Amino acid sequence: MAAHEIRRAEPADYDDVIVVVDNWWGRAMVDKLPRMFLDHFHRTSLIATDEAGISGFLIGFGSPSDDLTAHIHFVAVRPDARKFGLGRTLYDEFFALSRDDGRKIATAITSPSNYTSIDFHRSLGFTVAGPVRNYNGPGRSQITFERPI
Ligand SMILES: CC(C)(COP(=O)(O)OP(=O)(O)OC[C@H]1O[C@@H](n2cnc3c(N)ncnc32)[C@H](O)[C@@H]1OP(=O)(O)O)[C@@H](O)C(=O)NCCC(=O)NCCS
Repeated sequence: MAAHEIRRAEPADYDDVIVVVDNWWGRAMVDKLPRMFLDHFHRTSLIATDEAGISGFLIGFGSPSDDLTAHIHFVAVRPDARKFGLGRTLYDEFFALSRDDGRKIATAITSPSNYTSIDFHRSLGFTVAGPVRNYNGPGRSQITFERPI
């Protein structure tokens, strides 16, 4: 894997992240990442950079209602940096910081059509369930992921 620096996010990273999400997902995703995620969850979110700038990010948080659970809301790697282990490294770093916070379980969700995400999470040892019908409201099924950390 090329050299990537991974650090905790800061609120100001939002401006760099939000301009790449649609391109990195290949569809409109900006509405799913309002600024509040970086304002309030930057301590548990991660930014990867290389000589070309931002190369990946993970937006995650410890559940305020369930002391044992850490949830990953968004993860993405710049298209040219994929399949070299950066996504796995971002998760490993998130698991480590979450364990330091006393978390024991990691969860995430994705849309049933995101086969890359499903394969990625399965490769990382997550249990894959669903599609869970109406998970996010009528007609909005989701795949759910969970693993111990
Ligand atoms: C999902 C994503 C973050 C993976 O990042 P990555 O850096 O390419 O992943 P890694 O190289 O660390 O791969 C980790 C594992 O996932 C698997 N994997 C990654 N991409 C895959 C793909 N397209 N198809 C099948 N498996 C894949 C790898 O084979 C690897 O498994 P292994 O270690 O057993 O060989 C990246 O493809 C991405 O940014 N996609 C667009 C955004 C997205 O859909 N995010 C997830 C939903 S929030």
